[in-house]
Amino acid sequence: MSEKIPKDFINELLSRTDIVELINNRLILKKCGKNYKAQCPFHHEKTPSFTVSYEKQFFYCFGCNIHGNAIDFLMNYEHLSFVESIEELSTIHGIQIPFEHTKNNDFYIKKQKLYLLMQKLCYLYQKNLKLDNLANKYLYKRGIDQEMVNVFSIGFSSINWNKFCIKFNIEKKLEQELLSHNIISINKQGYKYDPFQGRIIFPIQDQHGRIVAFGGRSINNFLPKYINSQETNIFSKSKQIYGLYQVKKKFFKPKYLLVVEGYIDVITLTQYNINYVVSSLGTATTIEHIKILFQNTDTVIYCYDGDEAGKNAAWKTLKKALPYISDQKTLKFILLPNNEDPDITIRKEGKEKFQIRINNAMSMSKFFFKYILKNVNLSSIDDKFYLSVRALPLINTITSDTIRIYLRQTLARMIGILDDNHFEKFLYEQEIKKRQKTYFYVKSTPMRMLIALLIQNPNLAIITPPVQILKQRNIKGLDIFLEILEICLNNPNINTGQLLEYYRNTKISNILKILSGWDHMIVQEEIQNMFLDLLTNVYNKILEERQEYLIGKERIKGLTISEKQEIWSINKKLLKNSIKKRK
Ligand code: UTP
Ligand code: MN
Repeated sequence: MSEKIPKDFINELLSRTDIVELINNRLILKKCGKNYKAQCPFHHEKTPSFTVSYEKQFFYCFGCNIHGNAIDFLMNYEHLSFVESIEELSTIHGIQIPFEHTKNNDFYIKKQKLYLLMQKLCYLYQKNLKLDNLANKYLYKRGIDQEMVNVFSIGFSSINWNKFCIKFNIEKKLEQELLSHNIISINKQGYKYDPFQGRIIFPIQDQHGRIVAFGGRSINNFLPKYINSQETNIFSKSKQIYGLYQVKKKFFKPKYLLVVEGYIDVITLTQYNINYVVSSLGTATTIEHIKILFQNTDTVIYCYDGDEAGKNAAWKTLKKALPYISDQKTLKFILLPNNEDPDITIRKEGKEKFQIRINNAMSMSKFFFKYILKNVNLSSIDDKFYLSVRALPLINTITSDTIRIYLRQTLARMIGILDDNHFEKFLYEQEIKKRQKTYFYVKSTPMRMLIALLIQNPNLAIITPPVQILKQRNIKGLDIFLEILEICLNNPNINTGQLLEYYRNTKISNILKILSGWDHMIVQEEIQNMFLDLLTNVYNKILEERQEYLIGKERIKGLTISEKQEIWSINKKLLKNSIKKRK
């Protein structure tokens, strides 16, 4: 997808963007020397190590190593895709993206059209609700107040599409578009009808508030009780989380997300001031759901009916979530009284009691053993064997060492094996991990230092002496250095953030990002000298190699006149460089 936006445009967009302003609108930045600091939004910390550089148009965190330019910030902070981040920046600057003509581009335009259609129809449904007595009576009966109607943009479809069109003066063109997208249908007799007719409309919004689909509940108990829009380019049920937009509007990173089953459950709990409730629309939890939930919070609490079906659903969710839990990401469960859903329970017992249920939610490990020990007789050897066969493969899907080993030990104890080896193994694994981490550190070489200095200070390009002699020499990283140098020379005033953009999705983008955030401890006044010194070293190395080659040749077959001249001039240059250095 990234090819379809011209690179020049992205460069232009970045040059108009001030990363400090962009981040300052989202975090509290404090000036600290030349840079700005804040508490890192991407990991928990007490002392701020998240740094934003105006000069470099770049951010980095010493704590968790995250780094990048304005686009990277939006991608990480707002959970946007690359293209969405560009869209966001374009909106900020009020300019249009000059998409190149590709198939992807048409796809994008189609999607935009669909968003707009859904938005228009939603608005009409909302207007219609205000005028409809029956629908309002139904909501009143369900105890949903006006504030929630507004917060969740609840609406009502009409019983008769033609009357609906007349009532709201719907133009033929809009009707045609709705038909062509199958939002409105035609029956065998040729009559147009709204599949949602006679239903309360719950618009389904994505994380950014765009309406991607509708859910509809019949108000006179027609079956099915609920229907949803069909899947489209902008709506995939397995990836959608109802209510997340409303939660994120209140908190960027909520402490918990409470997952319930139905629309009404989300709305009722929100009405009772429990402001972190979402739902996966009555579908079984998918891995995508789990990933999105954990992207947005550290603690996910699933709330199920306490009956057999509810417990089984909870177990299915748990099995899917096991690989995604960690020391930071935890999963909990609430099992309500049999045959109750949160809407019923909270209305019956009130917020305080419901809050206690949330506070006392069962930990993942507790639920794990509670469920798996169901009908297991721990005094029977057969049962113990059966238990380990069932539990171990599941426990092994957990990637977090601490949790996996804790569960294995708990299981071992239940079965009656007290195995201390596991603890040793754990320590061993920790040790390996640590080693792997340090191995990942980028070693400092003169070439890398040169690249780092140049990326961090692109204006060094102007003072770089001619590089002809460097071309086609076999020094690792030299080609990258020369390429960056060329970009800098061709784009005066380019900054670090823009420079990195040239390398997005290339093999070297990661190492370049690391080098951009490299703390080289060189004071600003010394950077030029250091850069020139390093360059001189590289020149010298090349000269010395040539010198060695020529000396060797002289011994074996003697030198031509021009080679003699060359060795003389090399000696002179090396001498000059060493004097310059001593100064
Ligand atoms: P429930 O049957 O538990 O309904 O379905 P509910 O949420 O308690 O609804 P009320 O209180 O009777 O109004 C839970 C969720 O499952 C989906 C819907 O998303 C619903 O909110 N569902 C249910 C369907 O998609 N289709 C159905 O026919 C029923
Ligand atoms: Mn219900």
